[in-house]
Amino acid sequence: MSKANSKKTRFSKISLRTAIPGGLGCAISTAILFVYFADLPTQTLLLVTLISFMISTLVIYAISKQLHQSRVKTLEIISKNISRKRFEDYEDIELNQRDELDYLIAQSVRSSRKIEKELQRMNKIENYRKEFIGDISHELKTPIFAIQGFIETLLNGALEDEEVNKLFLKKAMRNVNRLTYLTKDLMEISRLETGELKSNLQDIYLRDLILDVVESLQYKSQKEEVEIRVTEFDKNLQVRADRNQIKQVLINLIENGIKYNRAGGNVEIGIKKFKKDRDRIVVYTKDSGIGIEEKDIPRVTERFFRVDKSRSREKGGTGLGLSIVKHIIEAHGESLFIESSRGGTMFSFTLSKVNHVFV
Ligand SMILES: Nc1ncnc2c1ncn2[C@@H]1O[C@H](COP(=O)(O)OP(=O)(O)OP(=O)(O)O)[C@@H](O)[C@H]1O
Ligand SMILES: [Mg+2]
Repeated sequence: MSKANSKKTRFSKISLRTAIPGGLGCAISTAILFVYFADLPTQTLLLVTLISFMISTLVIYAISKQLHQSRVKTLEIISKNISRKRFEDYEDIELNQRDELDYLIAQSVRSSRKIEKELQRMNKIENYRKEFIGDISHELKTPIFAIQGFIETLLNGALEDEEVNKLFLKKAMRNVNRLTYLTKDLMEISRLETGELKSNLQDIYLRDLILDVVESLQYKSQKEEVEIRVTEFDKNLQVRADRNQIKQVLINLIENGIKYNRAGGNVEIGIKKFKKDRDRIVVYTKDSGIGIEEKDIPRVTERFFRVDKSRSREKGGTGLGLSIVKHIIEAHGESLFIESSRGGTMFSFTLSKVNHVFV
């Protein structure tokens, strides 16, 4: 802000507009005084009045300019900076006159800060949008090209061979399914990330919810020869959460436990005490699967991240499951933890208890 004072001082219209009426007032007062107390000839009276007008106008102009000029300049600099999208902290501005101009300067500084924050927020959204679109088009390409390849091969003659055409149609169908899951997950994640999907908190019986989810995944687990176990805990335990969203979290975690496992393996679901906060409990899923390397653990909740892309694709994974889990848990104000070793992986998350059932 030093520029405000270093620039050459300029003619001030505001000061002149204050000075002229002030000067006129002084001149009229002087004239009235001289008419009453000194019997001057008219010409001298006019001269004295004129001199009084000029001197008082000059004095008032100088004082007013001293008071306003640098602050008007400050306002000008702030507004020019805003229009050039330059945001300074303006911490060295001294506002000790507490008049309308000071108020305007303070207000402009506040506006500048608000606009800066809003622009940063919009840039972030814009970057997120670009990244998101880039990721989506990349992910859509793979199944679309695969479907295109199968159809082309069929049209080029493979249609005649019943064995081949069935196989190719099955493969094309698998990719169509992949596109369906992808679009469903993408819609969900974009609604979660933009904050459009609000959590509808209710009191839920946790055990019922877990058993519900496990039942819906029975077919998958049997197909992959992975056993799902639910540990014993009080069926009266209630948590405060969005039923559908927590169901989604459990489905994604248990599905991963099945997918990244071996035939004959298992996934255990249970609850534990949360030592840091007695009003919360921890829900966990622990599998005997392939594990996640330590360096990859912080990345698995990133959108589209897969440790082994070909394995995930083969199993129909898009790399959005854990990203959705993280968003839902954070939207609940809860925490997600991941531990993994060669012996398997444990995902756990906190939930708020409604009642004081012993855990
Ligand atoms: N239980 C687990 N054991 C080993 N690796 C896992 C486990 N859960 C997740 N991963 C790894 O983390 C990656 C990301 O998981 P995420 O659930 O987000 O995606 P996905 O399972 O590939 O696809 P999606 O869930 O969207 O169908 C997986 O691709 C896998 O490499
Ligand atoms: Mg998954």
